Amino acid sequence: MKALLPTGDPAKLVAYGEVDEPRPAPGQALVKVEAFSVNRGEVFRLHGALPSVGLRPGKDVAGLVVQAAADGTGPRAGQRVVAHPPGGGWAEYAAVDTDRLAVLPDAVPTVAAAALPLAGLTALRLLRTAGSLAGRSLLITGASGGVGHYTTELAVAAGARVTAVSATPERGRRLAEFGATVVQDLAAAGGPFHTVMESVGGPSTARALALLRPHGELIWFGQASRRPATLDFFAFFDGPSCAAVRHFHYEDFPEPYALDLATLVRLVAESRLHPEIGRLADWSDTASVLADLHERRIAGNAVLTTGP
Ligand SMILES: NC(=O)c1ccc[n+]([C@@H]2O[C@H](COP(=O)([O-])OP(=O)(O)OC[C@H]3O[C@@H](n4cnc5c(N)ncnc54)[C@H](OP(=O)(O)O)[C@@H]3O)[C@@H](O)[C@H]2O)c1
Repeated sequence: MKALLPTGDPAKLVAYGEVDEPRPAPGQALVKVEAFSVNRGEVFRLHGALPSVGLRPGKDVAGLVVQAAADGTGPRAGQRVVAHPPGGGWAEYAAVDTDRLAVLPDAVPTVAAAALPLAGLTALRLLRTAGSLAGRSLLITGASGGVGHYTTELAVAAGARVTAVSATPERGRRLAEFGATVVQDLAAAGGPFHTVMESVGGPSTARALALLRPHGELIWFGQASRRPATLDFFAFFDGPSCAAVRHFHYEDFPEPYALDLATLVRLVAESRLHPEIGRLADWSDTASVLADLHERRIAGNAVLTTGP
């Protein structure tokens, strides 16, 4: 079957190649991939990857079950699903553990579903980590990306006063429609905030931390700039005294992906969550879409389709 494989060339990160069709294990369904989304983390990995590493990218897929799991778990053949396999999803078919799948109702289009897994799971779990946000102030940096859009919509719905940072007003347009106050620089963010969700790195981390209230919490979930942060113990006394910095990894949760994927699907079906698809293209364009994601030319999620 056809699959996108790493090239090791930063100018064209992936290219079509031929690989064996996956042979599902007893607890896996075989999914015909109709759409998938791409994420910044995958771009980072591809920039460091060589073809010889055998990396098979692709964690966010949606499509049709063509073979149900042999152990009787999960969806039936013919059902549409969204899935979060650990890799291998940028291909015609993917074998996926049934505890990483959720069935799609008619109300949720396949393309919208493909934008859900990694970014949506991260947003849902960021909110779970933050605890109750009702009436609380929340600052989100790097908010114009896939995670930021979901997090903003969910946090506003949970009753938070959300301030979101985006590079331009246009990149923050949907965030404002979701109810966030959108700023282009942390200097304009105001505060102090009960909670900060930081994913830019470099100087952004210390600057965002300085906007916390005493005893507030910074949830540190990424480093989009790839630049490490420097923190000054003594700067905490100027505002965020006794604040907590909490490292976040969306994989490190007890809930099965299937459960949280089903929640995301339900929220979309009920029009309470709106995937922001900033780019929709055929999967033959994946390399250029990855370059655009890397260069911050896409707001929200990018989705690639495999069909006609
Ligand atoms: N910890 C976890 O478990 C976990 C899970 C998923 C994702 N992540 C991380 O969370 C972050 C957001 O993920 P995502 O999928 O939403 O990524 P994304 O779609 O690429 O969004 C990241 C945003 O960061 C902003 N940004 C600010 N400074 C940047 C810089 N120097 N370089 C690149 N981007 C910059 C960009 O917005 P503007 O151009 O508008 O500033 C961009 O839209 C990423 O760092 C990702 O690696 C972590």
